[in-house]
Amino acid sequence: MKPTNSPAMSIFESLESEVRSYCRSWPAVFDRAQGARLTDEDGHSYLDFFAGAGSLNYGHNNPVLKRALIDYIERDGITHGLDMATTAKRAFLETFENVILRPRDLPYKVMFPGPTGTNAVESALKLARKVKGRESVVSFTNAFHGMSLGSLAVTGNAFKRAGAGIPLVHGTPMPF
Ligand SMILES: Cc1ncc(COP(=O)(O)O)c(C=O)c1O
Repeated sequence: MKPTNSPAMSIFESLESEVRSYCRSWPAVFDRAQGARLTDEDGHSYLDFFAGAGSLNYGHNNPVLKRALIDYIERDGITHGLDMATTAKRAFLETFENVILRPRDLPYKVMFPGPTGTNAVESALKLARKVKGRESVVSFTNAFHGMSLGSLAVTGNAFKRAGAGIPLVHGTPMPF
C-alpha cells in the first residue's frame, strides 16, 4: 500500500477532482485484473471482493467474454449505435427470445437499459407516475437510489439530499 502523498499517487491528488470515493480507502495503483484477482503496479495480488460494486459477475477479463469482445472489435463491429438496429442487437434479441422467453412462455418486451443505475430509477419513477396518475412516491429511509434529482427525492440520506441544492419534493419517506 502506498501513502497518498507518495509520488506514485500524487497525480490523483493534484489533478483529479475531490469527487472520489472508493480509491481513498485503497492506496494502491492497480494495473491488471483476471477473474477474482487484481494486481497492483508493484505486483501485489488482491482478492477483489468489491468486484465493480457487484457488476463483475463473470470476474475481470473473463476469457470467453474477452475473446468475443476482441473478435467483435477486430472486425469493426458497431460499438456505438444508440438504439439503431444492428446485427449484434438482432442476434442478442433472437437468442434472448429462444433461450429465455419462449421456453417459459413469457410475453415480455425487451427494454435496453440506460448507462447508470439512477437512469433506471428515474424511468421507474416516471413510469409509476404516468401509470398511476399521482405525483407522490413512497420511499424508505436508509436506501440509496443515485445522485440525480428524482432519485435523490426518494433517498433518505440527508448528506446526499443536501447536494441537490433545491427542494426535493413529491416523495413520502417511510422508516425502514
Ligand atoms: C441500490 C442502488 N440504486 C441506484 C444506484 C445508482 O447507480 P448509478 O451510480 O449507476 O447511477 C446505486 C449505486 O450505487 C445503488 O447501489
